[in-house]
Amino acid sequence: MSMESIPLKKNLGTLDLVLLGLGAVIGTGIFVVTGTAAANYAGPGLIFSFILAGFVIFLMGLCYAELASRYPVVGGPYAYMLQIAGRRLAWVAGWFTIWEYLLASASVASGWSGYVNGFLNGMGVGLPLVFQASFNPEQGTFVDLIAVSMTLLVTWLVSFEAKKALRLNNFMFFIKFGIITLFIVVGIFFVEPSNWQPMFPYGFNGVASGAALLFFAFLGFDAISMAAEEVKNPQKSLPLGIFFAIGISALLYILVTLVLTGIVPFGELDVKDPVAFALRYVDQHVLASIISVGAIMTLLTVLIAMLYGLARLLYAMSKGGLLPSYMNHVNKTTGVPTKATWTAGIITSIFTGLVPLQQLAEVTNIVTLIVMMMLAIGIIVIRKREGNPKDGKFYVPFVPTLPIVAVVFSLYLIFQLSLLTWILFFVISVIGFIIYYYNENKARLDS
Ligand code: ALA
Repeated sequence: MSMESIPLKKNLGTLDLVLLGLGAVIGTGIFVVTGTAAANYAGPGLIFSFILAGFVIFLMGLCYAELASRYPVVGGPYAYMLQIAGRRLAWVAGWFTIWEYLLASASVASGWSGYVNGFLNGMGVGLPLVFQASFNPEQGTFVDLIAVSMTLLVTWLVSFEAKKALRLNNFMFFIKFGIITLFIVVGIFFVEPSNWQPMFPYGFNGVASGAALLFFAFLGFDAISMAAEEVKNPQKSLPLGIFFAIGISALLYILVTLVLTGIVPFGELDVKDPVAFALRYVDQHVLASIISVGAIMTLLTVLIAMLYGLARLLYAMSKGGLLPSYMNHVNKTTGVPTKATWTAGIITSIFTGLVPLQQLAEVTNIVTLIVMMMLAIGIIVIRKREGNPKDGKFYVPFVPTLPIVAVVFSLYLIFQLSLLTWILFFVISVIGFIIYYYNENKARLDS
């Protein structure tokens, strides 16, 4: 087995990055979770949840962009923390980022499988119940076979060559953008402004809980900074890619939510396919079917971008000696870290097969917010130590105020999450510490 590392190919430009970001960001959040969040958390006021979550993500996006521009290396938060604060905190950031990508990938595959199972059942050709959802013997389900198969298929695609998988991603993005635009343009004619009343049926608490849940809808933009080593002009392309990906997705989410809650009274939106449901609600059945098929096709792109990011993170941490060395390997012909890619895909498929969607999504949010807070604090530290970045590089304005505001808002969102989410977060942290100290001890004994 060859252990040598060869450089990843540098063939991505700004547009590739924006599309990679949007491919990763727009997905289960808007297509699946919005309905439940409007019905049970925030009502039409969900647009303010998106504004709140989008604001936090935007501040964090600025911090990511400075770090991605300062350190155009593969690995994302793990690599940045390694530069700023050493191996121990780099491990913490890397460990939680692994969970972010892993659980987000698993959530997306799980949401996608819900659509497909519903579709197959509707046609009378559903799988046996035991294979239709995650492990829950009381309900008669054991493993979500469709989610597992989808994850393994995407892993296979991503393991060919990054550029090829991303090209498919780019193509799918246009379908995704198309169906969202179709929904907004057609839906706007069916809006009944009276449905927006009351705007805040669950008060401000509802808006805040909605933001903590739908924070998930913005995750994935950091896949852009993870691709840094494969970017032609990282100093310019990385910050631009991040800004456009967050800005465009925030705008689309707000418009979709306005139209959605304008067409359907919010209390009726607790369904698995709210966007298509809204069009069926006003008897636009053909358009509703087009949107359903489009959504099913394009959720694939989110998974591609997430697994792409996860594989490169595992590769980078393995290169840094914090994960088993077999993943520090790039295929010489394709330029893809193949072993890291398959490791990412197989572990994700286990989680998506066995764990329910809601649990996956909530824990994704908490680990991500923790990593983002570490990076925001990292910006303050690095400015004290090294000053502003050199000319031409991107830098966050108003340091330390802006990173502090980002941390305070992140804490606010974290405290909206459930006790079970906190407990699972604690379990993940303990496992991470055990692995870290085991590795460090082993390295000491070996040397
Ligand atoms: N932002 C991604 C989605 O909504 C995780 O599917």
